[in-house]
Amino acid sequence: MSKGEDESLNGGRGAAIHFDGWEFRPAQRQLLVQGVRVPIGGRAFEVLRVLVQRRGEVVTKDELLAKAWHGVVVEENNISVQIRALRKLLGAQTITTLNGCGYQLSAASRDDAPELAAGTPPPEPLTELLGRQADLQVVLDRLADVALVTLTGPGGVGKTALAREAYSRRCALLQRAGIWVDLAPVREPQRVLTTLAQALSVELPAGSGQQDALVAALGHVEGLVVLDNCEHLHQALAPLMQRALSGAPGLRWLATSRMPLRLPGEAVLRLEPLSVPADGRLAPAQAIEHGAVALLCKRVADADRRFRLDEANVGAVVALCDRLDGLPLAIEMAAARVAAIGIDAVQGLLGQRLKLSAPPGRDGGVRNATLRDTYDWSYGLLSATEQMVFRRLEPFLGGFCAELAQQVASDDDEGGAIGAWEVLEALASLVDKSLVQRGKDGSGRFYLLESAREHARASLQSAGECQQVQRRHARAVAQRLATAQADA
Ligand SMILES: Nc1ncnc2c1ncn2[C@@H]1O[C@H](COP(=O)(O)OP(=O)(O)O)[C@@H](O)[C@H]1O
Ligand SMILES: [Mg+2]
Repeated sequence: MSKGEDESLNGGRGAAIHFDGWEFRPAQRQLLVQGVRVPIGGRAFEVLRVLVQRRGEVVTKDELLAKAWHGVVVEENNISVQIRALRKLLGAQTITTLNGCGYQLSAASRDDAPELAAGTPPPEPLTELLGRQADLQVVLDRLADVALVTLTGPGGVGKTALAREAYSRRCALLQRAGIWVDLAPVREPQRVLTTLAQALSVELPAGSGQQDALVAALGHVEGLVVLDNCEHLHQALAPLMQRALSGAPGLRWLATSRMPLRLPGEAVLRLEPLSVPADGRLAPAQAIEHGAVALLCKRVADADRRFRLDEANVGAVVALCDRLDGLPLAIEMAAARVAAIGIDAVQGLLGQRLKLSAPPGRDGGVRNATLRDTYDWSYGLLSATEQMVFRRLEPFLGGFCAELAQQVASDDDEGGAIGAWEVLEALASLVDKSLVQRGKDGSGRFYLLESAREHARASLQSAGECQQVQRRHARAVAQRLATAQADA
């Protein structure tokens, strides 16, 4: 169907049409500018309808009078009044006057660009996203502005869950198909290109030039591509993405990864755990406003319909969320146990947090089957030095500064290979890879999530380094105290 015969626009049931910065909604008789509905008079809307219908073509004054005024005889300057009103709303350049002839909508509709060949639904389970409204808005805003947005954060923090919601919303907003690519099962870097080509329905030539062929095929296609779980494939993805970002400007990319992809123009959004109330003495109605409490209660109630958050259990619920660091994966795993054995018994089990496994049917993929798997995966992707430094941070319950970390994790003074500088570099990299968190107060302190610390403890034990690290920790803390006393 050519644009001139776009009957859906006339019938009033038409789909929204998107232009840069504005959106025309014939079915609802609405005009949105930068996502916000703007008031528009009935006649101006009719004029715009005709111009949109014939976008890119010249519409004569007679045609406009016939279609927007339905043949009612009016003075010609009525048209220029409506055109002026439209230009005020949409910008002067949007409608061109062709002297003596008529008017032309000069904005190109994004809906006229080719779509991604085959859309894919986001992966199951599709559960309600809790406590992430502000984060979701940030992701959607960034996706409107930049070509690549990367969600980073530790395993189980909810990157995929947020990406899923952003993907559904963005595709619905643009009324465009999107592509969801889960890269977790891709083990060999050389399979990245073929996996993407397959997902995007692009046939690659045999032999060399495959990357060029993929980017060329994407050319002017528009739509959103999610790359979920990129952390182990950065090296293979970087050159490909760099080409795609310049060679296929119509595509938007949303990546999830435990660390940034480090590409030019990338917007990195680091996801914090869900919010936990600072104090357990809140009223239930206030406590449930926090994402961690909402998630725990929702999952417990899913398994046990009698469960209610009330004055009697709110303190224990908040304490449990706090001990789980607000980490959604840990909360979901604990919730399954709360439903079965009660909240007090679960508190008692928390020392073995890493053994908590996902309740049936709700695991986040093989890697998230248990919290231990999640950390094994992250730990396995570290360099040997990073692994060593990570596990040696285990004694720091309640956070640490870089200097203390250097004293405890370095071992060159005892004949080892790790000096203070290596510790600093590894620390920066561990923050980047979401295994160490930076304190939110800007004080330059760092901390490990409790589940990360448990993994560090297990790794420290297997490496046979417990005694050495405890000794160094005790010495560093004693030195600190002595200095503080001397200064006092
Ligand atoms: N905001 C949220 N609301 C509801 N469920 C969530 C939320 N965040 C995470 N989850 C759930 O927690 C689990 C871990 O989240 P996931 O997105 O897989 O983490 P990540 O991708 O960071 O490893 C999943 O089962 C997910 O559905
Ligand atoms: Mg994920």
